[in-house]
Amino acid sequence: MSAQLTPILSLFWDQPQSWTLKTYEDHEGYAALRTAFDTPKEDLVAMAKDSGLRGRGGAGFPTGMKWGFLPPDDGGPRYLVINADESEPGTCKDTPLMMAAPHMLIEGMIITSYAIGCKHAFVYIRGEIVHVFRRVQRAVEEAYAAGYLGKDILGSGFDLDITVHSGAGAYICGEETALLDSLEGRRGQPRLKPPFPAVAGLYARPTVVNNVESIASIPSIMRYGSDWFSDLGTEQSSGYGLFSLSGHVKRPGQYEAPLGITLRELLEMAGGMREGHQLKFWTPGGSSTPILTDEHLDVPLDFESITEAGSMLGTRALQIFDETTSVVRAVSRWTDFYAHESCGKCTPCREGTFWLKQILERLEAGRGTEDDIDKLVDICDNILGRSFCALGDGATCPITSAVQYFRSEFEDGMHTPCDELFPPERSTLFAKETQPV
Ligand SMILES: Cc1cc2nc3c(=O)[nH]c(=O)nc-3n(C[C@H](O)[C@H](O)[C@H](O)COP(=O)(O)O)c2cc1C
Ligand code: SF4
Repeated sequence: MSAQLTPILSLFWDQPQSWTLKTYEDHEGYAALRTAFDTPKEDLVAMAKDSGLRGRGGAGFPTGMKWGFLPPDDGGPRYLVINADESEPGTCKDTPLMMAAPHMLIEGMIITSYAIGCKHAFVYIRGEIVHVFRRVQRAVEEAYAAGYLGKDILGSGFDLDITVHSGAGAYICGEETALLDSLEGRRGQPRLKPPFPAVAGLYARPTVVNNVESIASIPSIMRYGSDWFSDLGTEQSSGYGLFSLSGHVKRPGQYEAPLGITLRELLEMAGGMREGHQLKFWTPGGSSTPILTDEHLDVPLDFESITEAGSMLGTRALQIFDETTSVVRAVSRWTDFYAHESCGKCTPCREGTFWLKQILERLEAGRGTEDDIDKLVDICDNILGRSFCALGDGATCPITSAVQYFRSEFEDGMHTPCDELFPPERSTLFAKETQPV
């Protein structure tokens, strides 16, 4: 794999007013839609399958296969729901995509809806990002005015409405069935599966739930073909994606590259670690993916290789930490998040995250007891695989991986506060006087 950027989703993010319909149309926007309307629907599903596109929301499920799970059309409604909740710590790709190029998502939604026979699609946007909600809403209005949405789109005979919905700011509402409950007006908690959304999803009707980036990739696959897409990336992880670098790097940001690129290559493009510092640990795909270390700089960032290295590709949220960072403090903050966001439906996660938080607080303050590390690992063992949804599993990943690679730092927590060993100001990226108040 040669280090290269493949700006496709991010091709015109640097243009003035990149989010407008005019800018999108100036960059071949909505041309793929015209081609899609001349293509049999089954061929569109086949195209998605052949491209090898795997869901960009974290789990990497093949997108075309998911569409193919819908039962035959019975004349009743079927829905497409876009998961734009994006609340995992570190994950920050869908938000800039929707801010900079909302029409790419909308075009992908129209093509997908046409392919699966959906006449009403939804975008479920994280509650806190009101500016993104407004931007997508405005783009939907522009698309209606231009005849890309509504009745008889471009004279094709196809009708589609899009509703943009704002959540109330809960991480669990990114889990697809909790999202559907929330969209229906209920408290967002995961549903028992089966039935899967493809069979009984929104309002108990067949539903496809896909991530923003997954669906925003559809227009380019339509335009350039499934072979073009599958030739990018690796054999089993085809295509390109947004890699979000954050933390102790010189130039944090979104780097769009083929799957299979390595962290070493991305770091080179990002100007390396901040001056005078070395990589200590990193997350390949957000806080719920096991951390990796500098041993893993050359592991290809694709679904299989990262799994083999003991972690998960997740959302390609590469949070980079240098040697000034206390691993105990970082893991403790993530655990605060999981304990806060646990929806409380199942005991292992509800009670377990609460207990994990107590122990980590002690270790962080240098007041840990001798059996605290074993207790941490034991509680994680009892949450992993026993929780009702993947939030519980995710809560354990940073802890068990951190103990695996940095056990001695947890042992230090039995006698020395981590703020003494790792003064927080050394990890801070901005001088105190420039920090926002
Ligand atoms: C706690 C939790 C939070 C999640 N948050 C998101 C999210 O914000 N966005 C997303 O696309 N998928 C999220 N997922 C994964 C979704 O359940 C689902 O797999 C995804 O939306 C499917 O889209 P894809 O196949 O296009 O990746 C989350 C899963 C869990 C367990
Ligand atoms: S694992 Fe956590 S978030 Fe998921 S259902 Fe159980 S309590 Fe709720």
